[in-house]
Amino acid sequence: MNRRHFLHWSSALALTPLLLRKSWAEGMADMPGMDHAAMAHGASASMPAADSLGLPHGLPLPSLSMLENHGAPGHFVGQLRAAPVSLPLLPGKPATTFWSYNGQIPGPAIVAWEGDEVSLQFANQLGQPSTIHWHGMPVPVGQDGNPHDPVLPGQTRDYRFSLPAASAASYWYHPHPHGHTAQQAYMGLAGVFVVKSRHDPLVHLPEQWLVLSDLKLDDQGQIATSSAADHHDGREGQFVLVNGGWQPEIALAEGERQRWRIWNASSARILKLALPAHEVDLVGTDGGLIGAPRRIDSVLLSPGERAEIVITGRFVPGQPSALQALPYNRGKAMGKEQTDILTLATIRQTGSKATAALPGTLRDIAALGNPAVKRVVNFSENMADPAAMFLINGKTFDMERVDFIGKVGQIEEWDIASQAHMDHPFHLHGTQFQVIARTDDGVWQTEPFLAWRDVVNIPAGETVRLRFVQQQPGLRMFHCHILEHEDAGMMAMLDVRP
Ligand code: C2O
Ligand code: CU
Repeated sequence: MNRRHFLHWSSALALTPLLLRKSWAEGMADMPGMDHAAMAHGASASMPAADSLGLPHGLPLPSLSMLENHGAPGHFVGQLRAAPVSLPLLPGKPATTFWSYNGQIPGPAIVAWEGDEVSLQFANQLGQPSTIHWHGMPVPVGQDGNPHDPVLPGQTRDYRFSLPAASAASYWYHPHPHGHTAQQAYMGLAGVFVVKSRHDPLVHLPEQWLVLSDLKLDDQGQIATSSAADHHDGREGQFVLVNGGWQPEIALAEGERQRWRIWNASSARILKLALPAHEVDLVGTDGGLIGAPRRIDSVLLSPGERAEIVITGRFVPGQPSALQALPYNRGKAMGKEQTDILTLATIRQTGSKATAALPGTLRDIAALGNPAVKRVVNFSENMADPAAMFLINGKTFDMERVDFIGKVGQIEEWDIASQAHMDHPFHLHGTQFQVIARTDDGVWQTEPFLAWRDVVNIPAGETVRLRFVQQQPGLRMFHCHILEHEDAGMMAMLDVRP
């Protein structure tokens, strides 16, 4: 029994020490009537079932449209326009209104190279302020689309930055305006930004790019408003889409190796991804390739997080050939937990192929040294105060308040704890970090491998220790990447001084 099942029952419990909570939870384990039905009472009663809506599924995986580059070599110059768009989604129903970049769901993919200069003109044709945040990218603070820097309705602005050496990775972009990030993201505003390297050890492998997003429709086939449970737990809909399609089909040959880049662009879902039967090696995280491939059974992707995997086709009769999301309990207070296996995509066998080599080493990652500063970051929930429910170190976000003062080039070590019912995925702007250790049921475990990340899930009751260096000065946001929590104040700022 997962101890987190029991943490719903009293918010006061979140304040009691872990050990106490554990034994309390174990004591409750046999009590009759303690089931999910009771916990689901807050879920939106009006959300129509997925099957009743008739959304087409099982079509070939949609490929992402690419943002056109108007620049000379070494320069990416493009335009992104945020505006409402109506797309036919459900047969026999009026078109569904999304908010999109350039009319695309997901937004157009941007592909640039290490060393490139990037210049992106953003036109905001929404009815509310917006920004574009270049999630995970090492961009100057004035170009990072912070909530301090809104682009008002009808305005345009240019974002300019350059892509440093060794920055190749799978990033993404999404709005980050004050208080409206969740809505703008669930209405459809998000796209991927892939930075490529000219020395890529996996360049010989064919690639698939999979953007996982969440769609919640009402019975008219329009994007539903958020329920109380969505605001509290983080919004989840009836559908997890892949590149905007529902349960698409991906072609793979027996023995074939493909490199998949996967983005969790959902507001709140924590996806425990698995590909039963097939061989899967983790080769990259948010900040690009890891040191060496690692054979895995599953990978946990929290909102905002990315993984690169190499899949080798192994079709085993009688075993499902699919990209699945395994059940995961993230400690919701109101909504129902995911207790079933979700099929996100099916994988159809197309003949067989010779198996390409997978290099034994991918990249050098040096461990960050001893920290000059150590800090503690506590995520907590206060159900008693609807105006300040989601807190960092006991405080709700304030645009005018600097929470920590740091220094360019200084190694920082942060212990980030979820002293709460729920998992809260931590995200830091401006740089990538290395996870050093994490607790598992309160017991510290050293991280088994080095990786560059910009999002890490902090499970309820646990702590994650990470280190980073900021190379550029300015105010950097850090927050929970459940977008409803971020909007509700679970965000704070690090001022990096020169
Ligand atoms: Cu992807 Cu501050 O966000
Ligand atoms: Cu959160």
